[in-house]
Amino acid sequence: MIPFNYLGWFFKTFGSIIYPKVVREELCKFLKNVPRQAKILDLGAGTGMMSEFSHTCRDDLYFMAVDPAKDMLKYALPYIKTQVASAEDIPFEERSFDVVLMGESLHHFNNIDQALKEIVRVLKKEGKIFIYDFDVSTFLGKSICRGEKLLGEPGHFFVPEILKNKLEDYGFTAVISKHSWRYTIVAKLS
Ligand SMILES: C[S@@+](CC[C@H](N)C(=O)[O-])C[C@H]1O[C@@H](n2cnc3c(N)ncnc32)[C@H](O)[C@@H]1O
Repeated sequence: MIPFNYLGWFFKTFGSIIYPKVVREELCKFLKNVPRQAKILDLGAGTGMMSEFSHTCRDDLYFMAVDPAKDMLKYALPYIKTQVASAEDIPFEERSFDVVLMGESLHHFNNIDQALKEIVRVLKKEGKIFIYDFDVSTFLGKSICRGEKLLGEPGHFFVPEILKNKLEDYGFTAVISKHSWRYTIVAKLS
């Protein structure tokens, strides 16, 4: 397993490098249509990187960062609320959030189906998700997947089209954007 509890400083210092500018721009474009003071759940938030990026373009939003690694969350900036928990058991009531963000975190979840059930439960009607992850059909994506599995991680990396189909099974309509070996998916509960 990757010892995330000891890696907060690393992600805080270098974490943003893995987010290309185009993905940050996409995130801001996605957030443009989110209602004022909407509630954002940053799932597998680590140090709260996705919330930080979001805050640069929408500082009116409420950010809740959830992660099982307490010592990653302690690096979150003061405007980000934090909660130690896993994606498979999100400790909030149903229909609590307008948006769920998952930045390089989905592939770490132990049980993707249980996490998706929880995401659907805590999202409001017509709630949205933004996923950023690595495409396992590319050489780099495959290499990262192998490396993480060797470290004992679940390595639930997807070919984006397969994840899109899965999201549709959970009631989302989804749109993929590919960025070489990385991709984003924007999806809305219908
Ligand atoms: C590569 S880090 C990404 C953190 C952050 N989203 C970022 O982009 O910097 C992956 C995060 O997923 C978290 N994680 C691992 N298993 C998880 C689970 N079952 N539910 C939620 N988060 C999990 C880890 O603790 C870690 O903080």
